[in-house]
Amino acid sequence: MSRMFVPGPVDVADEVLQAQAVPMLPHRSKEFETIFRRASEKSQGLFYTIYRVFLTASSGTGLQEAAIRNFVNRRVLSVVNGAFADRWYEVAMSNGKDAEKLSFDWDTPASPDRVAETVKNGGFGALTIVHNETSTGMENPVREIAEAVSAASPDTLIFVDAVSSLAGAKIEMDAWGLDMVLTSSQKCLALPPGLALGAVSDRAMKKAESVENRGWYFDILRMEKHRNKDSSPATPAMSLIYALDYQLDRIFAEGLENRFARHSAMAKRVQGWAEAHDLSMYAPEGFRSQTVTTIKNDRGFSVADLNAFLKQREMRIANGYGQLKDKTFRIAHMGETQLEDIEDLLSAMEEFLKK
Ligand SMILES: Cc1ncc(COP(=O)(O)O)c(C=O)c1O
Repeated sequence: MSRMFVPGPVDVADEVLQAQAVPMLPHRSKEFETIFRRASEKSQGLFYTIYRVFLTASSGTGLQEAAIRNFVNRRVLSVVNGAFADRWYEVAMSNGKDAEKLSFDWDTPASPDRVAETVKNGGFGALTIVHNETSTGMENPVREIAEAVSAASPDTLIFVDAVSSLAGAKIEMDAWGLDMVLTSSQKCLALPPGLALGAVSDRAMKKAESVENRGWYFDILRMEKHRNKDSSPATPAMSLIYALDYQLDRIFAEGLENRFARHSAMAKRVQGWAEAHDLSMYAPEGFRSQTVTTIKNDRGFSVADLNAFLKQREMRIANGYGQLKDKTFRIAHMGETQLEDIEDLLSAMEEFLKK
């Protein structure tokens, strides 16, 4: 087994894997419904929300699509400064919405003022933004953007992709005034892939009532009806729910603040190491991800060779994503990863660089 320093799927603790290895129950049984409800209610803590958290048998992209299908009548603004933000724009377009892209250079955080200027009088029912761009290793200032958007266009709903940051960095859904925050199981939650979590505000739920063609599988009103009975319209990913229920207890036992501090200590260590080895970060200081560091390949080595070298030592990092392949590489420090693991990785990388 290689230690995974790739930004998902990440390593899953043995005991969490084992939590899945229990017999099936009928999903419409009191026994399972109790676990489903418990997992969903405990998840609210991760989002800092009093609102409902949906658990869907999909990856995070499913909930990107759900946000568009359920809460957008026509106009949506997609803030784009990375590959996953661009995907959300494409999801909106391919669902027939009138989507507009507000682009920033990929190494530039989205500007609250520019976003606010664009939404003002733009007739946008909603805005999509990625909190932590896994392609660039950059965090957008979502809190400041949400504040500016609420002032400029109070009725615009705010949807946030926190796929690679929720449970690794603090995102306060209610305090920041967000309408939907979504994440995937295989990143900072350190679960196997296949489950997505989405927290949704009351005003977004109300909006859904006026939206046509919400589809079936992700129809949020149908999902809510079932959620109120501690269930889901279709068969849930039961084994993953068992694992989530178990993992949430581990996460809260560590303490969210401690968990965030662990992630940011690892981020700092990786950034410091890179700088000391004449490698610069893709994202500007002050906006660097706490969960994945994207490093420019300033020394021009082969990322494939580096990974082959690391694999012999049972470790893996990730190449740059899409257009950043080979120009950058990425070190994830999320989920179960500890500072000691990062030290092992950096020593191996040091050996590679000396070769
Ligand atoms: C920021 C971000 N958004 C969305 C996705 C897509 O998530 P999934 O593969 O769970 O659908 C990813 C996957 O890496 C991501 O990093």
